[in-house]
Amino acid sequence: MNDFPAFTFSTVAHIVSELGAANKLGAHIAQRFPTVKRALLVTDPGFLKTGLVDGPAASLRTAGIDVSVYSNVVADPPEQIVLEAVDAARRHRSDIVIGLGGGSSMDVAKLIAVLAGGEQHIGAIYGIGNVKGVRLPLVQIPTTAGTGSEVTNIAIVTTGATTKTGVVAPQLYADMALLDAELTLGLPPLVTAATGIDAMVHAIEAYTSRHKKNPLSDVLARKALALLSANLIPACENGRDLAARQAMLLGAMLAGQAFSNAPVAAVHALAYPIGGTFHVPHGLSNSLVLPHVLRFNLQAAADLYAELAEIVVPGAGGSVEARGEALVGAMQQIAAATGIERTLQQVGIKETDLDQLADDAMLQTRLLGNNPRTVTRDDARAIYAAAF
Ligand SMILES: NC(=O)c1ccc[n+]([C@@H]2O[C@H](COP(=O)([O-])OP(=O)(O)OC[C@H]3O[C@@H](n4cnc5c(N)ncnc54)[C@H](O)[C@@H]3O)[C@@H](O)[C@H]2O)c1
Ligand SMILES: [Fe+2]
Repeated sequence: MNDFPAFTFSTVAHIVSELGAANKLGAHIAQRFPTVKRALLVTDPGFLKTGLVDGPAASLRTAGIDVSVYSNVVADPPEQIVLEAVDAARRHRSDIVIGLGGGSSMDVAKLIAVLAGGEQHIGAIYGIGNVKGVRLPLVQIPTTAGTGSEVTNIAIVTTGATTKTGVVAPQLYADMALLDAELTLGLPPLVTAATGIDAMVHAIEAYTSRHKKNPLSDVLARKALALLSANLIPACENGRDLAARQAMLLGAMLAGQAFSNAPVAAVHALAYPIGGTFHVPHGLSNSLVLPHVLRFNLQAAADLYAELAEIVVPGAGGSVEARGEALVGAMQQIAAATGIERTLQQVGIKETDLDQLADDAMLQTRLLGNNPRTVTRDDARAIYAAAF
């Protein structure tokens, strides 16, 4: 038997993880991209309000780089915002794009880098592997410790009232990712909790991914889960705990590297309709269904969950099933300790909505195919009922 089946692994080539690095952004960029002259900083109004765009922008100017700030990104960015941002980059004649924000801003930055310098229309790049040619230089600076978008090859766009579409392409891997916890100090506790649990889900689902599980993603997922499980509650309880914040950023990035190569599964498949229809933030949608999907998966993934329990609940003992159950219980306890919503009812979902949610989840065939246990429409309905 071959213990190590063939696999491929891609990630961002240059990563800077350093407290205070954002205020040296200009120097990092001048060193890495000596010819760039005009940077577009991409962010959203919420992050702009923190005032934390000023330091990186000033350091770029000090390095002789002209800066324009595009700050109209909204959560779960709609196509129209992407097109508007591409237009802003063209008007500014930007020669480098810098995502500075959560997953929403970083995803928009990826698409600007692809579309502003190229000939393709956005409609042509949805799906897997449809980006042609090169993009503008791209740097990603996360301000939530969550999506891992700074190191993934995916961008997610809201394309209808309730539908999201992904662009997946190697060109979406940034040239540089910069992790600086000083940017995340003001992230509110409930956002810290939801985005942090999203990152934990990335690690768990990568570790149990049915098709592309690989030794590199496994190592990254395990380290990610260790960092995230030890630091999520401290980061929620004391938002100014710099060490916990930097550990969260690192954990979220490692989880991003893991799932970019061993993709996520049913937790995300069942979370998407909750976000799409009820505008529940991505991390919270995941957190709401997480324990119920894990419990459903237990019979197929108990051995792998038991391995992860050793990281999240070091004292857990007993049978493989008991340790797998311990992981589920620990994830439930973490969510409870943060005070985020725990049931679908609490986010305004009614029992009469569950059938539609189950129908919509079944459309996520790419994600469901990665799940360790086959999910039928009845299974999805039962998981939503358990989460209700
Ligand atoms: N590309 C990927 O690999 C990937 C993976 C998962 C999710 N996503 C996408 O990412 C998006 C979600 O990203 P997210 O969870 O990071 O949230 P987000 O980017 O939507 O931001 C959420 C909120 O947090 C605020 N915020 C961000 N950083 C802050 C800070 N440091 N201080 C204070 N407020 C701050 C923002 O203003 C915003 O209101 C969704 O669109 C989702 O589909 C992408
Ligand atoms: Fe996610």
